[in-house]
Parts: sequence; C-alpha cells; structure tokens
Amino acid sequence: MIPAGSQGQYFGRQDESNDEFFYSQPRRVVHIDDNAIETVSAVFRDFIPSDSVVLDFMSSWRSHWPYGHLKRRLVGLGMNAEEMLDNPDLDEYVIQNVNDDPVLPFDDEYFDAVVITVSVQYLTQPVAVFKEINRILKTGGIFIVSFSNRMFPTKAVNIWRSLDGAGHLDLVSSYMEYAEGFGDVKGGLANAKDSPPHDPLYVVMGNKMDVSAE
Ligand SMILES: C[S@@+](CC[C@H](N)C(=O)[O-])C[C@H]1O[C@@H](n2cnc3c(N)ncnc32)[C@H](O)[C@@H]1O
Repeated sequence: MIPAGSQGQYFGRQDESNDEFFYSQPRRVVHIDDNAIETVSAVFRDFIPSDSVVLDFMSSWRSHWPYGHLKRRLVGLGMNAEEMLDNPDLDEYVIQNVNDDPVLPFDDEYFDAVVITVSVQYLTQPVAVFKEINRILKTGGIFIVSFSNRMFPTKAVNIWRSLDGAGHLDLVSSYMEYAEGFGDVKGGLANAKDSPPHDPLYVVMGNKMDVSAE
C-alpha cells in the first residue's frame, strides 16, 4: 500500500536528473541472463496470441520475442533511437520519456498485448502509465510485466529499492489495481526451477476487463 501524500518520497530516485541524460548513450546489452531471457520468451509465446499487435514498452536493443511466433506488428517505445533501430524484432519505434509525459501516443484499444520487460522499476508515475496502458489495450488484451532483481539503482524509484522479489510482485499488482480496469491479475516467479543459480524472472500479468459488462 502507498500512503497518501507520500508519492515524492516513494517515487523519488537517487538520480533525479532528466532521463534523457542517462539514456543518451546506446547500451547494446541484455539485462538478464540467458535462462531468464528464455523464460520471458516462453511467457510471451504462452500468453500472447499469434498475429497480435504488441507494444514493447520501455524498449531497447532486444525484445526477447519468441522465435517463429507470428506477430502482426511489434512497436517499441523507449528512450534511445539507436538501441531500437538495432532491435531485430521491432517493426517501428517511438521515443518518449514517460516520466515527463505519461500520455501515450496511441489510439484507444489499439494493442492486443503490452509488455514491460525489466524496466517497471524506473517508472515515477506508474499508476498514470498503467491507466494509459489500459486505455490503449483492446478489451481482453493482455498486459505482461516482468522483472528480475537487477537494476540501475540510481534510476530505480525508492520504493522498488526498499523491497524484495515478493514485495515487487505485490507492488506491481497494486499498480494494476490502482490503475483500475485490469482483471485476472496474477504473478509469481516464472523460473523457480532454475533460479538460483540463474537470474530470477518474476511476472505479473492481467487482462483489460470489459467494463461495459458491469
Ligand atoms: C534495463 S533497460 C530494459 C530494456 C528492454 N525492455 C529489455 O528487456 O532489455 C530499461 C529501458 O527502460 C527505458 N526507459 C527508462 N526510463 C524511461 C522513461 N522515462 N521513458 C521511457 N522509457 C524509459 C529505457 O529506454 C531502457 O532501454
């Protein structure tokens, strides 16, 4: 739970300089080990129907799209054009600092699926962003948030740095709850058999509910 009036404290960061500075240099790297990457790909294969229009939110050099899994379109949104130009999975990309402007440049009900991979810890206005993600998802569309225990600590929000994996699962689930409009929210450690020694890969997912049915 996030106490009222404490957003600044919880969603402050050690490095409050503009994110454009931190992400201006391209990083052609992956941020989790091979087992965790395979787990991300398997989750996408299992939960994103083929022929989907997908948004890779907070995208970079790789999207970990499952090999051979058909997609209609994969759009990246991130901070660094060079990284996303070099991403073989993306069909197009958009540059936007969502901490400055959480309003997303997409129509209502445009995407079948939205994913955030190992990046949710950098959102300073997560509930506003999750509300926008709900708006741009089709009814029934899936939102998949995955994360590990690795991060750029100076850019992660304070509340993230104060929690462990179980706490992160609760926190991301609560973002979906506060954003409203997500149902069937579930989460857990997706590679429990392999971690340790491999990087843990936690997943929280939910579907956009049909509010007209209420
Ligand atoms: C650790 S990388 C993860 C990249 C990619 N999702 C992956 O799985 O490898 C974090 C990404 O979050 C994005 N990001 C960080 N802060 C952002 C912001 N304020 N607005 C938009 N994207 C941001 C950056 O572009 C960066 O590539």
